[in-house]
Amino acid sequence: MVEIQVGSMKIQADKGKNLLSVLRDNGIFVDAPCGGTGHCGKCKVKIAGEIPPVTETEQALLTRSEIVSGTRLACLTDCTGTMRIMLPEYKTVSKAGFLETAQEIDNGFCPGETGIAVDIGTTTLAVYFYELKSGNMTDVRSGLNLQRRYGADVISRISACEAEQDALRKMGDSIVSQINGYIREYGKKIASAVIVGNTTMLHLLTGLDPSGIAKAPYLGQSLFGVMYAGHQLGLQVDGEVYLPPCISSYVGADITAGLIAMNLDRSKEHVFYIDIGTNGEMALCKGNTIFCCSVAAGPAFEGAKIKFGTGSVAGAINRVWYDGGVKYTTIDDAPPVGICGSGLIDAVAVMVETGIVDETGRFMDDQSDEFFVSESISITRQDIR
Ligand code: FES
Repeated sequence: MVEIQVGSMKIQADKGKNLLSVLRDNGIFVDAPCGGTGHCGKCKVKIAGEIPPVTETEQALLTRSEIVSGTRLACLTDCTGTMRIMLPEYKTVSKAGFLETAQEIDNGFCPGETGIAVDIGTTTLAVYFYELKSGNMTDVRSGLNLQRRYGADVISRISACEAEQDALRKMGDSIVSQINGYIREYGKKIASAVIVGNTTMLHLLTGLDPSGIAKAPYLGQSLFGVMYAGHQLGLQVDGEVYLPPCISSYVGADITAGLIAMNLDRSKEHVFYIDIGTNGEMALCKGNTIFCCSVAAGPAFEGAKIKFGTGSVAGAINRVWYDGGVKYTTIDDAPPVGICGSGLIDAVAVMVETGIVDETGRFMDDQSDEFFVSESISITRQDIR
């Protein structure tokens, strides 16, 4: 056994065991968009103590100064000796106060009863709190979906379920404990809940094996439209929890809920409803006819396959503009550690505005294949095309 220390937590790990697995098993979040396959270069941890030798892949994915300062990729690191691990600071929770006021309706709820509407996104979990009698939204809590340690997209998470015994249960436990954590922070009893998400997210929540979604004929175990008791899902909800129906394996209950909320099953005009998340889903609606489809969309905006891409962590460049020179801001005003989705869009806009790339993303100067946003963070040719 070897000792791994993370903050004040000391973990005894089997010698030689993979560091990412050890951290996951102990409930420690490490961003792992490629699911630990050594491709994305995002599962960076800083190691002090017995620093393992750097692998060839790490040499390609880490900068010289990162390697020298002890940064390694957790998925490519084995626990070979006593290590102290320093993790990047992930921003996981945000909240807002009173947000929305609805007209009081006679809906059968008692005054003061609270309900939640939960949107389990592949990347972000959002929990909306409502006073059920009035329909007023009273609070919102959101944060990174911590299942991300098993991969940024649904296919990586389905693969993790197949590759790792217990990953399905752990991902289910992870989302349930995140929702329960937000409920505890809110501090009131929850009478009922509605939970939406894409079809894979609802499988992971309910413990159903999602592997059929990833291979022909691409069918999961359920399209839901099911009522559970809160305790059946391990949720701190006193009454019922409704999971609305998904439309198909790749068009989830979040789209169903959006279409209903917007009355798009009755629209007189053609309306195009688009939800760009980690998965992009869209619906073209008119009258009682609705066509739906979905595409992979978001991992690039969450840092996957972008050299210095990162999620919304402290130090992520989140705004870029040109004012006689390239200017930027970072989350929490921390020193730049990478660039997140909003920064990436801004940076490419600046590159077009200043003629670094043309509107197709082609670098205008054949000698150059990098655009520096800060001293250490750049956008590369491969990032764009
Ligand atoms: S390289 Fe380790 S999770 Fe992607």
